[in-house]
Amino acid sequence: MSEHNQVKMVEMNYDKDRPAAQNPVKVQDLSLRDGHQSLFATRGRTEDMIPVAEKMDEIGFWAVEVWGGATFDTMHRFLGEDPWERLRTLKRYFKKTPFSMLLRGQNLVGYRNYADDVAKLFVKKTVDNGLEVFRTFDALNDYRNFETVVPVIKECGAHFQGCICYTLTEPRLGGEVYNLDYYIQKAKDLEDMGADSICIKDMAGLMSPYDAYELVKALKANVKPLIHLHSHFTSGMSPMTHFKAIEAGVDIIDTCMTPYAYRTSHAAIEPLVMSLLGTNRDTGFDIRALAEINNILEKEVLPKYKHLLDDTKVSMIDINVLLHQTPGGMLSNLVNQLREMDALDKIDEVYKELPRVRKELGQIPLVTPTSQIVGIQTVNNVLFDTKEERYKMITAQVKDLCYGLYGKTSVPIDAEVQKKALKGYDRGEEPITCRPAEVLEPELEKAREQIGALAMDDEDLILYALFPVTGKKYLLQKYGKEEVPESLKPITMKDVEKQADMIKKAKAGQLMEKTSADGLPEKSEYARTFNVFVEGEYFEVGVDEVGGSPVITYAAPAAAAPAPAAPPVAAPPVAAPPVQPAPAAAPPKPAPPKPAPPAAAPAPAAAASGSGTSVKAPMPGMVIKYEKNVGDAVNEGETIVVIEAMKMENALPAPASGVVVAINYSSGDSVAKDDVLAVIE
Ligand code: CO
Repeated sequence: MSEHNQVKMVEMNYDKDRPAAQNPVKVQDLSLRDGHQSLFATRGRTEDMIPVAEKMDEIGFWAVEVWGGATFDTMHRFLGEDPWERLRTLKRYFKKTPFSMLLRGQNLVGYRNYADDVAKLFVKKTVDNGLEVFRTFDALNDYRNFETVVPVIKECGAHFQGCICYTLTEPRLGGEVYNLDYYIQKAKDLEDMGADSICIKDMAGLMSPYDAYELVKALKANVKPLIHLHSHFTSGMSPMTHFKAIEAGVDIIDTCMTPYAYRTSHAAIEPLVMSLLGTNRDTGFDIRALAEINNILEKEVLPKYKHLLDDTKVSMIDINVLLHQTPGGMLSNLVNQLREMDALDKIDEVYKELPRVRKELGQIPLVTPTSQIVGIQTVNNVLFDTKEERYKMITAQVKDLCYGLYGKTSVPIDAEVQKKALKGYDRGEEPITCRPAEVLEPELEKAREQIGALAMDDEDLILYALFPVTGKKYLLQKYGKEEVPESLKPITMKDVEKQADMIKKAKAGQLMEKTSADGLPEKSEYARTFNVFVEGEYFEVGVDEVGGSPVITYAAPAAAAPAPAAPPVAAPPVAAPPVQPAPAAAPPKPAPPKPAPPAAAPAPAAAASGSGTSVKAPMPGMVIKYEKNVGDAVNEGETIVVIEAMKMENALPAPASGVVVAINYSSGDSVAKDDVLAVIE
């Protein structure tokens, strides 16, 4: 077993100037992208990266991942930040360490394939803004989706890292589809495309140590590019997997700084540095410098994010990923989606349905966006299917997948599901077999026309082209045409201290603060006791109404807009105004001069009369677009409105034929489950 002894002890020395190892393991740090994406829903702010940036630059990382994945989406949507500006800002602090990003192949940093013109400009502008390593993956491992971006990456002189998404058909490597031969072939394909390095992307933490050993050995023997291992901690195996991969000769390992490590993120760097110290694969990193960075993050940065950490569980390891192979991010998405729909009790059904849906959709790897596509379709199946009919509500993305718009699946899609999904599909009912982007019309000029002068440069234009609804909203805020909502603004350490103080007081039973010199007020006979849960902690809080008997107001769910006249306030006169206009009712769009609906009844009144058929939101989400206007005649089953839920688009069909008499929201509005989106009469 001489090969196992490759990691030999050379000399034990703590100091930074210890003798360099023969073949040091190269390390990429992920804290500033995958780390906070995995643990804190990608909410990390640029201002919180700056305090450690210069120190991280000194460590000697092979690269730091700072961009891509969900950052682009999250920043403009939830943080009020310009994603391009982050690159430029961080570049001023990282002077030596190359920047890397996660590029979703032709999906770029979005959730669908974009046209070639968008993809080319995106890569070019990304390099212009300071990015050097493009970790490129395709959710289906269909490398035709690399054909547009790779030549641009190469032309720009950047590093092309090709990924193989790691997934399994069996609990361990092998079996029908995802076996050693599969991965060797994929690596050869990437080498042929000119990959500077090859990454095995184990997004769910499924790779076990001995499989890693076998796989890395095989890849090192078959291809020349550097081999890079990206393995999430989720299942708890990754530190062991790292070690066996290092023994097998892996070149680069991905880790995080401790505060951003473990759970669904990655193994921490410090234990790896210590474990390899003095061996022929010693990283050469200064453990004290790492400790300093951790200290800053721990004290000055992470307290601001603690509330985002899922602390409902004590365990750091998610055994579901071993049992169901559901990646961590996907699992929390599913749980949230079910919770919002009051259906959390269906989680076991979802686990059961998930492998079935995955198999029917071509046994595809589960990684953004396929994890969302499979996950949300599974939820839809569990919630809306009947005994007689499966796939009752098929998302737009599943239709696209069935059409071939994401690429070729590992095994063919179930013929029946495919046929059902493509019935009436607007691109055609016959799936394509060519490179997906070949059927996409160029998108840039159209986007340029639509956004007009609001896009000041190509970076703005790309933001809009990738995210038309939220991107436009952000640009309006960026250029002061719309106010930045409070909810997008950062919290400060002062806020955190205030919160901590409140919790401390609550714990000590002093939640009622003294308001006057008279001391605490007397507890009245009306005092009520409430159970209050703060970040997983529990308090019993007494509430006493000042000056009189308590008035307890319950926050009832917002009345579903034009529901049959809510409280019967006397007999409504014939011309009663709408009892309660829909929340954020859209100014009724001028109906096109079409056959007017019977009688000239004003639309909102008709909506309030309750005589029409409501098109309700089956789930919470955001309105993408209405396909019909007030006054349009529709047939049952025709799409009325498209809403986005968990990043998947759902086309909602007309439940009955008739004329659209009310449209209650507009594009970009958030809606709750059961909100009435439109009324047909
Ligand atoms: Co990852």
